[in-house]
Amino acid sequence: MTDQTPGATALRTSYLGGLTAADVDRELSLVGWVHRRRLMAGDLTFLDLRDRTGLLQASVSPEFTDAAGTALARELGAEDVVRVTGTLALRPDPNPELPTGEVELRVRSMERLNAAETPAIPVYRGPEEELPSEELRLRHRSLDLRRPELQSTLELRHRLILAVRNHMDSLGFLEVETPILTKPTPEGARDYLVPSRVHPGEFYALPQSPQIYKQILMVSGFDRYFQIARCFRDEDLRADRQPEFTQIDVEASFVGADDILGWMEGLMSRLAGVGGAHATAPFPRMTWDEAMERFGSDRPDLRWELEITDWTEILGKVDSRILQGAVEAGGRIRGLMLRDGARLSRREIEAVEGRAKAAGAPGLLWAKRTQEGSSGPLAKFAGEEALDAMEVEPGDLVLVAAGSDGMTSAALDAARVPALEAVGVPVVQEHAWLWVTDFPVFEDHDGALGPNHHPFVLPHPEFIDSLEDDPLAARGAAYDLVYNGSELGSGSIRIHDAELQRRIFRILGLAEAEIDRKFGFLLGALKTGAPPHGGIALGMDRIVQRFAQVPSLRDVIAFPKTTAARALFEGAPTLVDPGELEELHIRVRTAGSAAD
Ligand code: AMO
Repeated sequence: MTDQTPGATALRTSYLGGLTAADVDRELSLVGWVHRRRLMAGDLTFLDLRDRTGLLQASVSPEFTDAAGTALARELGAEDVVRVTGTLALRPDPNPELPTGEVELRVRSMERLNAAETPAIPVYRGPEEELPSEELRLRHRSLDLRRPELQSTLELRHRLILAVRNHMDSLGFLEVETPILTKPTPEGARDYLVPSRVHPGEFYALPQSPQIYKQILMVSGFDRYFQIARCFRDEDLRADRQPEFTQIDVEASFVGADDILGWMEGLMSRLAGVGGAHATAPFPRMTWDEAMERFGSDRPDLRWELEITDWTEILGKVDSRILQGAVEAGGRIRGLMLRDGARLSRREIEAVEGRAKAAGAPGLLWAKRTQEGSSGPLAKFAGEEALDAMEVEPGDLVLVAAGSDGMTSAALDAARVPALEAVGVPVVQEHAWLWVTDFPVFEDHDGALGPNHHPFVLPHPEFIDSLEDDPLAARGAAYDLVYNGSELGSGSIRIHDAELQRRIFRILGLAEAEIDRKFGFLLGALKTGAPPHGGIALGMDRIVQRFAQVPSLRDVIAFPKTTAARALFEGAPTLVDPGELEELHIRVRTAGSAAD
């Protein structure tokens, strides 16, 4: 029978990381990479060997190592792969920092399984040494992935995915794989297209999500579906987005929103347990309208309590063109009251204002009060009386935006956390979970109507009759999961009536022929006895990133893309042979070539 010891194979008796004082005197054959080598006096060499599970010191000395092994130890370079055989012994100089720090392998013999070139980036780093630049690390990903930090993050990812599968299985959900070569699904990004060789001029789209397929599975009676699903979106990348990412995709039949939210709270509590975070169900809920009013955001960071105040009543009366103009144009004057914020310098306040400007505000008006008096542009316009009415106390700073709700919300949301952090306001909770519910069904996309989530969200019954007349007023059964200000998931109850689904497409400006061409297969399926259904998708990468507490999504993906959507290690995207393009019926127009 195969040896069941963790890591035992033909070449080794066990992994390195689990060896302890209990293993002393065992005869072991171990393998690993030379993490670090220290040459000591008297032909003694310490090798720190590394594998996926950790580090172990191997000591080489003419006292117990054969001549070939002693000579080899002197030649070894960083990242050489070696096999060492010997006896485990207590270390005379235990290292409490290392889980295996009590023991070492006294090497009797040693062989080099493979020599490594001098690594382009070091895997071992001294305590003071900084990481090489991310670009360099991504170019040499095979080496970077040897870093214990990245290995443990990817192991956490594995554990979380396993927990998802076990948890969903325990709830009776079946994992069903949906196609990668598919038809476009509207999730608001551009599609990655794949040309068909056998059907000239036709293209598959890579899925932006399995949305339509999972709805079809409900029509087919699968009742409870989930999938660890890879999604592809050609969109402008930000720190929290990758062109290729993974969702925990879920759909179920005969459900209400409470069913989905309850299941996901259970799942997140379990995942938080695996990831060393905290999630206590039930999570608080807030409607979209309330979140926008109180925090200016559909994903408020509730680690802090600070809310937006509406000062239209007080400041609308102030003799100022900016303030009165905003109110006359139908806007409001809203702001943030930062207790103790008066200690911020003008420069620090302007840095916060910069965030609001980047979010589309012309600027923020601010005022601060100290024992010496009031200062700042708002104090100048508004005067002491208005500041009294706003209840600005000595020590306070107020930041104010005047204009449409869309603008003031975006500006104050962008300023809120940077301002709180600049003032040093302590958080009221470390793990702030929140459901934002009842999203608008539609939103204004530069004058055109677009779906707020996607076109399959079921509007609440009270809005169904007036969808065409007042689409922007309609609210639907859509919900987002928010954790510490970041959107971890998004879902809704779906439309299961083909006629209502067609109406939504029409309101979105699609002509009948286009509806049939793009979504005929869905509408056809909905007519064959579609059950009421709904679901959600959680961002797997974002969950791992949050639980692993790493700065970038790239740190939780083995081979990620850069913000320019490039894979630097393998070099993708790449030019292809003209012959291949010919076969795919594609001619590439490069800049400067004649248009034909
Ligand atoms: P949505 O587009 O909101 O919904 O995506 C769901 C979740 O997936 C994660 N996510 C991403 N993660 C990394 N990189 C990206 N580019 C990226 N885009 C999205 C987010 C997000 O909350 N079909 C619907 C879900 C449904 O209605 O069931 C959908 O895809 O965490």
